[in-house]
Amino acid sequence: MSIKRVGILTGGGDCPGLNPVIRGAVRKGIEVYNYEMVGLFHGWAGLLNMDSSPLNLRSVSGILHRGGTILGTSRTNPAKIENGYEIAKENFKKMKLDALIAIGGEDTLGVANKLCKMGLHIVGVPKTIDNDLCATDFTFGFDTSVNIIMEAIDRLHTTAESHDRVLVVEVMGRHAGWLAVYGGMAGGADVILIPEEPFDLGEVCDLLKKRHKRGKNFSIVVAAEGAQPKEGAEGGEFFTQDKSLDAFGHVKLGGVGDTLAKAIEKKTGFETRSVVLGHIQRGGSPTAFDRVLGTRFGVGSIDLVHKGDFGKMVALQGNKIVAVRLEEAVAKLKTVDKELYELAKVFFG
Ligand code: F6P
Repeated sequence: MSIKRVGILTGGGDCPGLNPVIRGAVRKGIEVYNYEMVGLFHGWAGLLNMDSSPLNLRSVSGILHRGGTILGTSRTNPAKIENGYEIAKENFKKMKLDALIAIGGEDTLGVANKLCKMGLHIVGVPKTIDNDLCATDFTFGFDTSVNIIMEAIDRLHTTAESHDRVLVVEVMGRHAGWLAVYGGMAGGADVILIPEEPFDLGEVCDLLKKRHKRGKNFSIVVAAEGAQPKEGAEGGEFFTQDKSLDAFGHVKLGGVGDTLAKAIEKKTGFETRSVVLGHIQRGGSPTAFDRVLGTRFGVGSIDLVHKGDFGKMVALQGNKIVAVRLEEAVAKLKTVDKELYELAKVFFG
């Protein structure tokens, strides 16, 4: 089939690195393949509302270092809209799109996979600070977020040490602990708690007391927002900000840091404070790693369009950019390897 017009959208939580992907796909799409490139705004809402604008070389000039996404994003889910998928398919034709590049996490790519099965020509690009997508070693956004967490922990070390305090740092990552493990290890955290291994409050406090015994009267505890206690008042429940769900059924996680800080202070008598890094972890300019990975993913995605290799997602395996089936990528979450967490534990306490 001859391809003339290619759409591109960014869905789900934003992250640094999205603009390098858009820039890579648009630059090569226009300059090498002579495509018309079209930006769809705010994720799948852009297709459902036919909300788009042409993208040219000027559109993507000067965006390599910019965080966020020039196209905007949303968590719009066609499944939550009456006849949403049929409307999306119809609009794909009305907009005269020959192909579409969907940049997103498991939710956005799950929609892309369903639309592929309905006959649409779509290529996926894996995106999330959580790094919880299967079939790719890393997603862009993750490295930038790890560096933000590391820099925050470096800062928190000095104030914790000055006050002989325990500081509990709550980080993002949803139901995977990659950000907590990488950010915690890079920042030299004394305890790291992740969703993959429910924690025992008594054991956490014993580790902190062990530090105090060897004269280290301050500690940093990193807790992933999805971390859960083995038992206790919450009975192993997730800590949530409220019970509302987003369009893909996700609860708003949050609160483990504060609850844990209060419990630690009560149990050990050590003065304890909590810090929630929140959306700072998703902001600002992408690191060099994420700029290069985003660029490689963007160019790789337009190459897949050119080859007509649809229903696939670009992925990083080793140092190679490969194509994997969307089906495989969205089948399950990629959680923290047990051996990595065991290695991190060497430095606990
Ligand atoms: O998936 C990325 C992420 O930042 C998660 O780590 C976090 O739980 C969620 O998005 C927050 O979503 P929102 O920005 O919609 O509050």
